[in-house]
This record gives sequence, structure tokens and C-alpha cells, in this order.
Amino acid sequence: MLGKTALVCGAGGFIGSHLVRRLKHEGFWVRGVDLKYPEYEATAADEFIAGDLRRQDICERVIDGRFDEVYQMAADMGGAGYIFTGEHDADIIHNSATINLNVAEICRRQNVERIFYSSSACIYPAHNQEDPDNPNCAESSAYPAAPDSEYGWEKLISERLFLAYNRNHGMKNRVARYHNVFGPSGTWQGGKEKAPAAICRKVAIASNGDEIEIWGDGLQTRSFLYIDECLEGTIRLMRSGFEGPVNIGSDEMVTINQLVDMVCAIAGKRLQKRHIPGPLGVRGRNSDNRLIEQKLGWRPAQSLITGLEATYAWIESQLIRAAA
Ligand code: NAD
Ligand code: GDD
Repeated sequence: MLGKTALVCGAGGFIGSHLVRRLKHEGFWVRGVDLKYPEYEATAADEFIAGDLRRQDICERVIDGRFDEVYQMAADMGGAGYIFTGEHDADIIHNSATINLNVAEICRRQNVERIFYSSSACIYPAHNQEDPDNPNCAESSAYPAAPDSEYGWEKLISERLFLAYNRNHGMKNRVARYHNVFGPSGTWQGGKEKAPAAICRKVAIASNGDEIEIWGDGLQTRSFLYIDECLEGTIRLMRSGFEGPVNIGSDEMVTINQLVDMVCAIAGKRLQKRHIPGPLGVRGRNSDNRLIEQKLGWRPAQSLITGLEATYAWIESQLIRAAA
């Protein structure tokens, strides 16, 4: 291996597969590992190992102290339809915690200096996210802890795990809290898709004048981060002197109804919204970007509509391909 090298755990997933491509553009030699290959295009990794990171022997095989950068993106995750139904709680905790415990410990044993860990805005207390117009997601508000999902609890304990390895074993791990990341090559059907992809799919399938189903009253708020800015923040944090935890998210907060209207405008369709019961999660969420600005001198700035245009076009192309 010549030059810089990186290991991407979860390289078959949405963020991981984009990250591999970004690191390749920077000239890295990249090893990816995942249970599965990327779904929508070939991996850009120099070496891709199909393996289960819940197994210590697989971690020992793929983790090597010579890696300059190790990114831990592997997790059992999905959108509201996956993490808020309660049906997958035991799997989510068991699978993701086992991966994180293995990756942290094997990296320590192999003398890896620095792991990037992808935590989530889902760690924030539910009681601070009840007002859709004024949610509090400042990093300092995480404790006393009260996430509204087991997914969030697992993320919180794993944040603590990676930071404990910094204190006790001299590592330089970095922890980011991602806020709803979207873009081309993200899951768009099957039950794990998040709102931006789900809405793009529903709008793309519909004809002018149709009704589309929206979970809840549509007045719940979120912000959505385009994949390119997610990668930029990830790499900046990884190479910075700040360990985190820090939000990596957009602070352009919209209601889900506004999200639907934006996608309809992109598609040039006039549709009716039918609000139905569904898994909702918190009432309001927005990224607080004061800390990232202060520590990294950078914050996401791209408008939501720009990212939605690219995402809608990609999902439309997937539908056309599926119909062919
Ligand atoms: P993703 O589901 O597309 O990717 C995760 C990948 O991990 C999948 O390809 C999956 O196969 C792999 N994986 C799961 N179990 C594994 C195992 N036992 N061994 C090996 N690989 C395994 O999710 P993503 O959107 O790319 O998210 C990446 C990371 O960022 C995850 O940790 C996720 O929790 C976190 N995150 C994502 C978002 C978001 O909006 N996308 C928000 C907050 C946090
Ligand atoms: N997925 C989805 N599909 N959500 C919908 C739909 C739909 O058809 N219609 C309305 N919604 C609403 C959900 O009910 C929820 O209130 C909101 O849109 C956002 O849903 P998601 O995008 O699925 O998830 P989330 O923002 O609640 O949580 C996501 O972001 C976290 C980080 O901010 C998840 O992906 C988490 O895994 C992630 O950590």
C-alpha cells in the first residue's frame, strides 16, 4: 500500500459507499467492509471484503494498524418506518453495539490511532424536541439522556465507548451526530427509507391530481443534509483536533408538508396530501450548528432544494430502470 490508506466499515451502505468514492478522489487506497456490496453501483474501493463486523475474527481480518483513517459507518439503521415501530429494537441494539464494541477494541489492539464514529441526532432528549418550531439539539443538551428510540440509546452508549477509548487508551477517535442525511444512492424503498427518499418516490409514482400518503399531520419538522456536505463535515472533523461529539447537519428546518411541496414543485406535479397514522418520531428537530462553526470553521450551507433536485432525479431514474 502506497500513500494514505483508509478502512470504511459499512462501505456497502449509503454514506459509506459515497465516502469510499470521496477518499478515492483524494488518492487514498481504500478497503471497504460490509455485509453486502453497494446496492446501486459498483464499489469504488480497492478492496471490498464481504464480512460481518459482529464477528471478532472478521474485525481482526479487516482492521490493520497501518490504516491512516478508519471510518465506522456500519449499523443496523433505517428511517422512522424502521426505528420507531419498536419491532426491531432488540436487533438494533444488539447488532450495532456488537459492531461498535468489536471495532473499538480490535482497533485498539491493532494500534489504530483514530476512528470516526457516526452517531445520530436521535441521541437528543425527546422532551427537547416537542415544539416543532423550536427544538433544542445543542450538543450540550444531550444529558440527562432521554432519547426516544433504542437506536438513539445505542448511539449514545457507543459515543461514550469511542470517547472512553480516547481517555483510557490514548486514541484520537472522533464522534459526529448526523442529522437525516439524503441523496442519490440512498435507500428509497423497502421500509428503511427516510422521508426525503420516501416522498420523492411517492411523488414520482403519482400522476397530477393524485393523493399521496404522509405519516402524521405533516407539521412535524426536520432538517435534511445532502450527502456531499455530510462527507465534507465528516472528513473535516476526522482530520481536526476536535473529538466531538458535534452535529453534522443542515439547519434549514422545514415541516414535512413543506418538504412534500418542494418535491412536488421539482416534479412539476400538483398532488393532494393524505395524512395517515404512521411512525412519527420526535415532533421537531433541527441541527444546531454553532459548535461545528466554532470548532471547524465550517458549517453545511447548501440549500435543501438543490439536494432534493439531484435526489428526485436519481429516484425517478431508479423507477424508470425498475419498470424497463
Ligand atoms: P446504511 O444502512 O445505508 O449503511 C449501513 C451499512 O452497515 C449497511 O450497508 C449495512 O449492510 C452495514 N452493516 C450492518 N450490519 C453490519 C455488520 N454486522 N457487519 C458489516 N456491515 C454491517 O446507513 P447510512 O445511512 O449509510 O448510515 C451510515 C452510518 O451513519 C450509520 O452508523 C448510521 O446509523 C449513521 N447515521 C446515518 C444517518 C442518515 O440519515 N443516513 C443519520 C444519523 C446517523
Ligand atoms: N420515512 C418516512 N416515510 N417518513 C415519513 C413519511 C414516509 O412516507 N411520511 C411522513 N414521514 C415523517 C415521519 O413520520 C417523521 O416524522 C419524519 O417524516 C422524518 O422521518 P424519517 O426521515 O424517516 O426519520 P427521522 O428524521 O425521524 O429520523 C432519521 O434521522 C435520524 C437523524 O436525524 C432516521 O434516519 C434516523 O435513523 C437518523 O438517525
